[in-house]
Amino acid sequence: MFINFWYPAGRSTDITATPVRRRMLAQDFVLWRDGTGQVHCLANTCIHRGASLADGKVRDGAVPAGEVQCPYHGWRFAGDGRCTAIPSLGKQARIPGRARVDAYPVVEKYGLVFAFLGDLPEEERCPIMDIAEYRGDQPDPGWRATIQHFEWDIDYKRSIENGLDGAHNEFVHPTHGYSGNRDDIRIAVEDYEIVNTEWDSGHFSSRRAPPLADAKMREASGRTVDAIIRGGTGHHGAAQVWTLIHPTDKMSIHQYLFEAPVDEGRTSLFLVNLRNFLVDESEDARMMGRNEVVAFQDRDVLLDVRPVVTPETRTKEFFTPADITIAGYRDKVKAWEDRGWRIDMAEVNRNARRVAYAIPSPARRQHSGWVLDSVPLVAPRAAAAERVAEGQRSSR
Ligand code: FES
Ligand SMILES: [Fe+2]
Repeated sequence: MFINFWYPAGRSTDITATPVRRRMLAQDFVLWRDGTGQVHCLANTCIHRGASLADGKVRDGAVPAGEVQCPYHGWRFAGDGRCTAIPSLGKQARIPGRARVDAYPVVEKYGLVFAFLGDLPEEERCPIMDIAEYRGDQPDPGWRATIQHFEWDIDYKRSIENGLDGAHNEFVHPTHGYSGNRDDIRIAVEDYEIVNTEWDSGHFSSRRAPPLADAKMREASGRTVDAIIRGGTGHHGAAQVWTLIHPTDKMSIHQYLFEAPVDEGRTSLFLVNLRNFLVDESEDARMMGRNEVVAFQDRDVLLDVRPVVTPETRTKEFFTPADITIAGYRDKVKAWEDRGWRIDMAEVNRNARRVAYAIPSPARRQHSGWVLDSVPLVAPRAAAAERVAEGQRSSR
């Protein structure tokens, strides 16, 4: 799991004046919406003696729009993480500068709340995946958006790689009209139009698509025979995937998946689905039902892949040319490891009962003397050395 990316913490409608706890990257966060409508996200562990801030409440304080108050001894924290009140010191007490918790940048987009979990300065951050069909808060006319949430016991990287995997459709998705019985689905990787930018890797390609299994969808597609359709898929940053499907010249399904690792074995997924056909609201339930069936087809495979977390090196899997986009993602993952962004989960797990960590926030680059330890990160050289050692072991 990686620090320094935007992760979805919930739907905008989930975050109100009542604080909520969210677990991401195997750490806990508290989120609430203040009186001006601004959402805040802090590390959830109170720096006094460790209570869960999300179990407290939001109160007016030095910041009238609302601060979170710890349920244990009533310390209050503003949205920027500063402690503003320590009741046991009395009302006029000077609050020590060190009394602060990590606060994370928050943005609301596409009906979701995103938190930037890391310390990277704004200008260096991977942006939240762009949805070209959105203007501001709303999809363009002609497009209909739906949002679905899933939370499963799978590693997020397994899910991202599944999204990039063009060879599984025939065998996993009968909903798309596939039989699972063909031996001739050769993926023409040589015809791929490869995408490889700073944060994205993926591809566009053409492939055979049978008529859709669902009668209404088939009717909307206007197609009752096999066709060659063009589409594209790729990842954006560590945990977001775009999939652009065009069953006919006029019909588009654009899916944007925003994932947040809850921990190493559990993932929260938000699917923003846009369609330019059957755009009436009354069709939402059908579309979402279909998306859910398809998503569960993927999930059922992913629940049982081993190891649970993707292997550190490709020598422990047997890649084929059709896995090229997954290899592209793995290359990006290595680059983030080499920047020192990978959380050292072995160390976190070793200390789980004895140390409360926090994901480092941008303010850690300005202030020192933080009460909680920053999560341990895999040193870049160690990450590279580990890969080399693994490669040597496997070549023996
Ligand atoms: S533990 Fe939070 S105020 Fe004491
Ligand atoms: Fe799939």
